[in-house]
Amino acid sequence: MLSGLLRMTAGLALLALPAAAQAADVTWYGQAAFKIVSPNGKVILIDPFISKNPKTPKAMKDLAKIGNIDLILVTHGHGDHIGDTVALAKQSGAKVGINADMGRTFATLGWLGMKQMIRFNKSGPVKPADGITVTMVPANHSSEVVFKDPKTGKQTMYPGGEPAGYVIELSDGYKIYHAGDTGVFLDMKFIGEYYKPDLALLPIGGHFTMDPTHAAYAVNNLLKTPTVMPMHYGTFGLLKGTPEQFKKALGTTSTKVVVMQPGETRKFGG
Ligand code: NI
Ligand code: MN
Repeated sequence: MLSGLLRMTAGLALLALPAAAQAADVTWYGQAAFKIVSPNGKVILIDPFISKNPKTPKAMKDLAKIGNIDLILVTHGHGDHIGDTVALAKQSGAKVGINADMGRTFATLGWLGMKQMIRFNKSGPVKPADGITVTMVPANHSSEVVFKDPKTGKQTMYPGGEPAGYVIELSDGYKIYHAGDTGVFLDMKFIGEYYKPDLALLPIGGHFTMDPTHAAYAVNNLLKTPTVMPMHYGTFGLLKGTPEQFKKALGTTSTKVVVMQPGETRKFGG
């Protein structure tokens, strides 16, 4: 009798929970720049190349309009990935997740204070905000930081550590793999098997990263992610790969390809 009553009470408690998990909002600015709003409201920017991004719609280039930011992740030291990181971190107070060596370069140059950065490295997950877990994973690319002296225009190279991708687990368990800039590499199989991302954001432009056929190989043979979205194409003349070529190279596959337009926001998961 008592246990029956307890079961009933437990059942009622379950009914009182929200009906379904909420989705994440993912906004693409073009190139590798994204804003992800986790179901619990935490705002994450990745590689925020926005104000000088030729693909970002004009109305979205005003950094002041981005509002609250909890975390900025930078995959490597190239300008189309560091982008507006420093300005956005300063205006919002957001933490900046960055490879430990590039973080040291940022501090040496006076760009950001050590306390504002989460300097970490691969396979050591961090919890930078409530309900959010970020794991750094390898990327096969390069990573130098160029400092241009504003007075003389002279350029100096600084170490950018190793390039990376990120697996971001949101508050409802939905996992997004942002590959950064990368060629195809066999450890993508590990990333697919171990983290089981729900969504993979993959470069397809070629020249500096995977082209559509290499990216399709990565999806079909290594990552096997249920949903993929192509990025890092068409921004500059050298990045010639197209989503159509990517889809064609994927062939018949159970993977869903989501092609977004720069400036667009879509819901994932939930
Ligand atoms: Ni790069
Ligand atoms: Mn790039």
